[in-house]
Amino acid sequence: MPDKSHEATERERFEKQYHEIAVLAGGLAHEIRNPLSTIHMNLELLFEELEESVDPIAQRVLRKMKTIQDQCENLEDILEAFLQFARAGELHLEEVNLVDVVSEFLEFYKPKAQEHNIDVRPHFSSDLPTVRLDLRLIKQVLTNLVQNAQQAMPEGGLLELQTSHRNDSVVLEIIDTGCGMSPQALEKMFQVFFSTKPNGSGLGLPTVRKIVEAHHGTIQCESELNRGTKFTLTFPVRLEEELAGQEVKD
Ligand SMILES: Nc1ncnc2c1ncn2[C@@H]1O[C@H](COP(=O)(O)OP(=O)(O)OP(=O)(O)O)[C@@H](O)[C@H]1O
Ligand SMILES: [Mg+2]
Repeated sequence: MPDKSHEATERERFEKQYHEIAVLAGGLAHEIRNPLSTIHMNLELLFEELEESVDPIAQRVLRKMKTIQDQCENLEDILEAFLQFARAGELHLEEVNLVDVVSEFLEFYKPKAQEHNIDVRPHFSSDLPTVRLDLRLIKQVLTNLVQNAQQAMPEGGLLELQTSHRNDSVVLEIIDTGCGMSPQALEKMFQVFFSTKPNGSGLGLPTVRKIVEAHHGTIQCESELNRGTKFTLTFPVRLEEELAGQEVKD
């Protein structure tokens, strides 16, 4: 018979090591973020001092500083995406209507959509049951998915957001008419650091999936090259028995 206790201790050791590495990586990202922001801030100050100068040397220096500034911003984006990924599992749940959450997000997204020639069409159901969501993290999910859709439609296009109620879940579909994905990209899109974009961190979709799964939800994707992409998210509605159980406990 296999030694179960040995298996258990191996697993515990592995989980402990995994936890240590995760804490270390999160700590490292934090440690890098502060000096990086000091570098960035001082660059801004140098820009202010040199911008007015007509001296050709100053102009050359400015061009090189611009490269440093771009790389600082790139690093800051990567760190931010990494920290969001690391924090995606910690939930602060509230009982909310998904339609309200998505509407609020769209209100905030409207000017950007206009700027990018994107026609946003919401199809919201009026009788959706409430679900328990972490609002900050769900906003992150919407931001990442809508940003991907926007980047897939550089010339603009149609972005549909549809809510519905199926079995014991509420469903959100996000559909774009963008460039779509190859079968290879479709297979790899949830892998950390997979990206087909020059400055993509490849952490957007892994973060989305981690957040959705932390809510006991699911995420699926259908995509066709040159036609578009549909992401389907589900979030479980709490069963009557669960609610009753909670009332007894409360
Ligand atoms: N709506 C979409 N349409 C077409 N391709 C997509 C779409 N969403 C994701 N992808 C593909 O999946 C890849 C991974 O997406 P993900 O959001 O994880 O990273 P990213 O967008 O490349 O970088 P980041 O989000 O970190 O800036 C993208 O590079 C792109 O190839
Ligand atoms: Mg992305």
